[in-house]
Amino acid sequence: MPYTFAKSQELFQRAQNSIAAGVNSGIRKMEAPVPLYFARGSGPNLWDVDGNHYLDFQLGQGALLYGHAPAGMAEAIGAQAKLGTHWAAQSELEIEVAERVQSMLPSAELVRFNNSATEVVLAAFRLARAHTGRKLILKFEGHYHGWADEGLVGFANPPAAWGDDESPARLHPSKGVIPEVLDQFVVVRWNDPAHLRRKVDEYRGQIAAIVFEPVLCNTCCLEPVAGQLATIRELCDRDGMLMISDETITGFRFGAASAQGFYGFRADLTILGKAIGGGTPFAALAGTRAAMAKILSGEIVHAGTLNANPLCLAASKWCLDQVRAQGPEFPAATQALGQRLMTGLAALAREHDVALRPQGPGLIFHAVMLKPGAGEGLIRDYRDYVQRHDAPRWAHLRRCLLEEGVRAIERGIWSISTTHTEADVTEALVRSRRAIARHAAGWKPAT
Ligand SMILES: Cc1ncc(COP(=O)(O)O)c(C=O)c1O
Repeated sequence: MPYTFAKSQELFQRAQNSIAAGVNSGIRKMEAPVPLYFARGSGPNLWDVDGNHYLDFQLGQGALLYGHAPAGMAEAIGAQAKLGTHWAAQSELEIEVAERVQSMLPSAELVRFNNSATEVVLAAFRLARAHTGRKLILKFEGHYHGWADEGLVGFANPPAAWGDDESPARLHPSKGVIPEVLDQFVVVRWNDPAHLRRKVDEYRGQIAAIVFEPVLCNTCCLEPVAGQLATIRELCDRDGMLMISDETITGFRFGAASAQGFYGFRADLTILGKAIGGGTPFAALAGTRAAMAKILSGEIVHAGTLNANPLCLAASKWCLDQVRAQGPEFPAATQALGQRLMTGLAALAREHDVALRPQGPGLIFHAVMLKPGAGEGLIRDYRDYVQRHDAPRWAHLRRCLLEEGVRAIERGIWSISTTHTEADVTEALVRSRRAIARHAAGWKPAT
């Protein structure tokens, strides 16, 4: 029997009276038929308040690389809580965590800690502008860099207003943003190195930094095409711009050296979030000594009452030790599991003539659902994705998956944790078979 969600429905109703719009992050409202309320988690397993069990691939929006409620992390946080929950001062623990990041990510010569990647992005932009004395940040269409004014320009440009291929619009998805913020950015299409080169030449001498998700995880899990990352590095070196790799999602998920090790490049500044804290509010700015110079000189302000909070540090130390303990087979073994899930989902969908085409590097992937008549082949950039991905149809399948106990991120992103096993993937596919059959039988396109 498909799951039902009476208790979550009741709590969501109750929340309307005390929590604005019932949720604490706008995206959580996307979950259908209702934003779920959870009771507990363990490894890849999650139970909601109605007692439904999920194999979880949402994983706290990807933060839970080590699964839900790992015992070792709980112990580390608990032990620290007995010593102190907050100092707003120095601790040896913060050096231990910084030294771990340094030893894992070669470009991390120095680090600074914050509570969210959104904040770290703002620090990186400020640092880049101070470093170069220039105003503009070049970013790519569809890339997400947090929810602040500066992080969202060009993230979700609507097709009717997205501009021609050569000049993507600088649009912001939120109201209430200072309009001048848009003028601080150049928006460029992803995965077209020649186009990138032309745009950098057009604004030569005005660009402080190029920021990017090395794998465009927030839009369809688009891996960089050959030459994409090398062109960014080359242009940054040529024009004195900083290369900012936003590894909020890829950091440590793609191995100890993160996407920089996986794809072989070296950034000037790196944004780390999610897996560095394993589900605690923890994030880091890592960079070369040269790129961090304006923090060293005290010329830029970087602050935060809760920065380097000891509970988060205790969790992070445990997380980073987990990554190091995985040894050389990480991330290949986790990636292989994800690839098996992708292949299995595609095969099940084919049986029912459902155009599901999972795309991505396996450690994380996107459940692309092709629109009727859309061409085959890998999706390449944000525009291609919007034109070929059938979002309403994916939303229908996502709900069927949820009702059978398989949970992915609402927008279609699936992450694998180090606690998922072959048996979990097998079970997820058994459940997905039922979900896809129900979807195929019940899906009616809007007329
Ligand atoms: C690539 C990227 N950058 C920045 C952020 C912002 O992170 P946070 O939500 O921790 O502020 C996110 C969040 O999903 C992200 O995916």
